[in-house]
Amino acid sequence: MGLALLEVASLHKTTYMKLKPSIVQQLEEKRRQARLGGGQERIDAQHTKGKLTARERLEVLLDPDSFEEYGMFVEHRSHDFGMENKRNPGDGVVTGHGTINGRLVFVYSQDFTVLGGSLSETNAKKICQIQDMAMKVGAPLIGINDSGGARIQEGVDSLGGYGEIFWRNVHASGVVPQISLIMGPCAGGAVYSPALTDFTFMVKGSSYMFVTGPDVVKTVTHEEVDSETLGGASTHTQRTGVADLAFDNDIDALLQARRLFNFIPANNREGVPTRSTMDPSDRIDLSLNTLIPDNPNKPYDMRELVMSIVDEHDFFEIQPDYAKNILIGFGRIDGASIGIIANQPMFLAGCLDIEASRKAARFVRFCDAFSIPIVTFVDVPGFLPGVDQEHNGIIKHGAKLLYAYAEATVPKITVITRKAYGGAYIVMNSKHLKGDINYAWANAEIAVMGAKGAAEILFKNSTNGDLEKKTAEYIDKFSTPFVAASRGFIDDVIRPQNTRWRISRALSLLKNKKVERPWRKHDNLPL
Ligand code: HXC
Repeated sequence: MGLALLEVASLHKTTYMKLKPSIVQQLEEKRRQARLGGGQERIDAQHTKGKLTARERLEVLLDPDSFEEYGMFVEHRSHDFGMENKRNPGDGVVTGHGTINGRLVFVYSQDFTVLGGSLSETNAKKICQIQDMAMKVGAPLIGINDSGGARIQEGVDSLGGYGEIFWRNVHASGVVPQISLIMGPCAGGAVYSPALTDFTFMVKGSSYMFVTGPDVVKTVTHEEVDSETLGGASTHTQRTGVADLAFDNDIDALLQARRLFNFIPANNREGVPTRSTMDPSDRIDLSLNTLIPDNPNKPYDMRELVMSIVDEHDFFEIQPDYAKNILIGFGRIDGASIGIIANQPMFLAGCLDIEASRKAARFVRFCDAFSIPIVTFVDVPGFLPGVDQEHNGIIKHGAKLLYAYAEATVPKITVITRKAYGGAYIVMNSKHLKGDINYAWANAEIAVMGAKGAAEILFKNSTNGDLEKKTAEYIDKFSTPFVAASRGFIDDVIRPQNTRWRISRALSLLKNKKVERPWRKHDNLPL
């Protein structure tokens, strides 16, 4: 037998050390302990509040059996205030990765059953580790928040942990999508992590976010307010815009996070996710021909148009209860994700105001950062007039939307359905801000202002009958899309029924769009 064969034979004879049953048992026992978090009693308390536990939430969020956990046995190292007797494996946060519909995602889920999910030095390190991993491999990050905030026994170590998390949130911004799900308390400085992420969901009745809670508010300003009113899901999805969507319970929120995830890319280089669709891209919709009422001052629901043009009428709306005069959200055309921004004539006649400008600007920037083409539907009579708007800085806030559109380099398509007046016409992804393909429906009006108001200014010294005649003349000349089209500000005037396939063709034309910009350290957008 040659030497080589001998070696092979001896290899086969090698005996390997078997894991002793007691070690396997020990491992299983340790895992069981870790899975119990703060213990059955606290798990029951969590359920009594209508909340799932940290691990149950991950089960709903992720594909079955896809979760792989890190740091299950990590413990804190604090000895102050009796903490040496309060050690739980995992230290109050479950971290790892899994998949959502087969696509990789990094996750952390704060475990309220362990010291109220409070953030310790070691617990923060676990979160930072998965933030770093998400950046390294280019996958989105979803954080589930349910925490009493900084671990009071650890003091500044805990604060440092928050700082590290925030730093990573900032540097991941625009590189990988970040989603925050608030499913319990999120107070003090802790709120700044969700605020730095791209999307925030809340659960009605069981989650709240505020910088200072009701007690501090009462002491400082003598205002009496409860947690729900101060920072509950309704407050943040309707008044402040801090959160994007509110759900009735944990399960709804988690399932909708899965749905949102399906629309967004894994990172800023991968391009949009696509999926096969049975919805033909050349589908025409005759009902759109009668969407616009005869009376130009009558509202109609822009959502109908949005639903009509996207694949299978599947529109994922973001912030539906905040700044309702503008719609934002995701859909697909030809199976590929697009971002949609649309004035909504049902509210404030579709005017742009402070909230609408901020809402749409941030969405445009998200789409641009992650190479999601933007489709804009315009029916805007202008900026909302008012002392309140002016004194609260509509100039700066309106500029945010203008800025966002002007700097975006993704494919940008605009369809003007009815009115596009004044400054708002320019802001809503006009040709002048480098909209790539701009269409107008045949009945659209593109003008400095509405015909009646314009005629009243121009012909203010005219007699009544004369004014009517002159208004009619003005309408005849300017209340059409053809003047703008004759200047090249509109690429084509289209029939409403053809909107979907015209957009689809424009998107495929722009697939390889590339724009170079001169070097700069970074821009200075109006904040
Ligand atoms: C340590 C905490 C904790 C915390 C809760 N626990 N918050 N332990 N540090 N921050 C513990 C409780 O002592 C309790 O332990 C267990 O978690 C469950 O809490 P309960 O109070 O029984 O629950 P509940 O009645 O539901 O009230 C939840 C709560 C309350 C509203 C969150 O616990 C609370 O007010 N906690 C303190 C919140 C806070 O002030 N955090 C610091 C914020 S400042 P036992 O063993 O008794 O069951 C901050 C700065 C961050 O976070 C700055 C970053 C830049």
